Amino acid sequence: MRLGDPPSPDELDAIERASRDELMALQLERLQWTLHHAYQNVPFYRQKFDSHSVHPRDCKDLGDLAKFPFTTKEDLREHYPYGMFAVPREQVARIHASSGTTGRPTVVGYTRKDLDVWADVMARSIRASGGRPGDVVHVAYGYGLFTGGLGAHYGAERLGCTVVPVSGGMTPRQVRLITDLRPDIIMVTPSYMLALLDEFDAQGLDARASSLRIGIFGAEPWTERMRAELEERFDLHAVDVYGLSEVMGPGVANECVESKDGLHVWEDHFYPETVDPFTGEPADAGELVFTTLTKEAMPVVRYRTRDLTRLLPGTARPAFRRMEKVTGRTDDMIILRGVNVFPTQIEELVLRTPGLSPHFQLHLTRPARLDVMTVKVEARPGAAGRAEAAEALRNAVKDTVGVRVEVEVVDPETLERSVGKLRRVIDKRRG
Ligand code: DLL
Repeated sequence: MRLGDPPSPDELDAIERASRDELMALQLERLQWTLHHAYQNVPFYRQKFDSHSVHPRDCKDLGDLAKFPFTTKEDLREHYPYGMFAVPREQVARIHASSGTTGRPTVVGYTRKDLDVWADVMARSIRASGGRPGDVVHVAYGYGLFTGGLGAHYGAERLGCTVVPVSGGMTPRQVRLITDLRPDIIMVTPSYMLALLDEFDAQGLDARASSLRIGIFGAEPWTERMRAELEERFDLHAVDVYGLSEVMGPGVANECVESKDGLHVWEDHFYPETVDPFTGEPADAGELVFTTLTKEAMPVVRYRTRDLTRLLPGTARPAFRRMEKVTGRTDDMIILRGVNVFPTQIEELVLRTPGLSPHFQLHLTRPARLDVMTVKVEARPGAAGRAEAAEALRNAVKDTVGVRVEVEVVDPETLERSVGKLRRVIDKRRG
């Protein structure tokens, strides 16, 4: 079976074969264009640059970008809905929006050309994952205002694939379609992939025998342990895709199937930086910040993503820097009695503990004056020794993260499943 062969050099975009110097020259030209475009057409940027006493012409090399002010999610919210657009509304061909679980949604817009670029980088991402023209692609990211479904869809079409636009939900039907239409590739959140696995089991089907050879997973953090779990249970290549609506959607960065060593950022369109989340100063590892280089409808300059990662030199695409798998978001970090904990740290440990399934939730309570975190985790079906598993996980968290947690091992199939992005943390603390 052909299992995710990497593309040969002649299948790559010309820029994927460029040198770092060639790429940087292109970036500078595009960055200068973006800064002028934002300054001239978006009052928000004009005021912000003016108040920081910087002008687009002050950008003479890529390092000069650090002189420009950051843009935050709050800035986008304040200019809801169309205030960040740099082109007349009539030239906006499509709108997407973030879910807006906290406050107002964030609206983003794309010109025809933006949609074209998006399809190109998403096609590049699927190809980097091992996909080829002619492959059948099952898209189970949600369609609609969320960028996942349509972003994946047009990228797969652009590559020349046969697209099955399933969207999320109706889990039994998903498994039926996978069995009948024999897709090569699935694009879905890793948490929903686990729900599909349960459904394969429930229908008495062997997930390893399915036609799927590549899974392109993103929209939420997931770990190397989860990669191992998904690859083993489905017999496929599990590859990471990253993106965010404010910058574009899925396809900002993607892993290469041959290396699976972090996500190559498609730097010809998105310029990454990492900064200390508290001081905003440049840092090797820290909060990811993006400046778009070609976006017409809604350019963003130094947008603070709140995602934590590290930038590394390129490998499979030497000119493009990689970002490590995202550890979590600054706003997902739990501070438990003074210790910082990320859900991904717990995921690694849960998956390392025999007898425990990958389905878990983190419940935060404050029964007395101190916060308590309870890891509610499902036992693997048929596994014995729940008390031992709970004890092992408690100890692993204490030794690795340095904090005491409660562990409750519950019956299989009792915790809520996600259809799209998973909510791991249930915070019941008051005050
Ligand atoms: O989640 C876009 C997307 C769709 C990416 C499908 C990949 C696949 P938003 O709804 O705007 O856009 O959410 C963006 O999701 O800032 C991260 O916190 C998180 N995220 C996205 N991809 C990853 C990933 C889409 N591969 C937010 N690893 C981002 C970790 C991710 N977190």
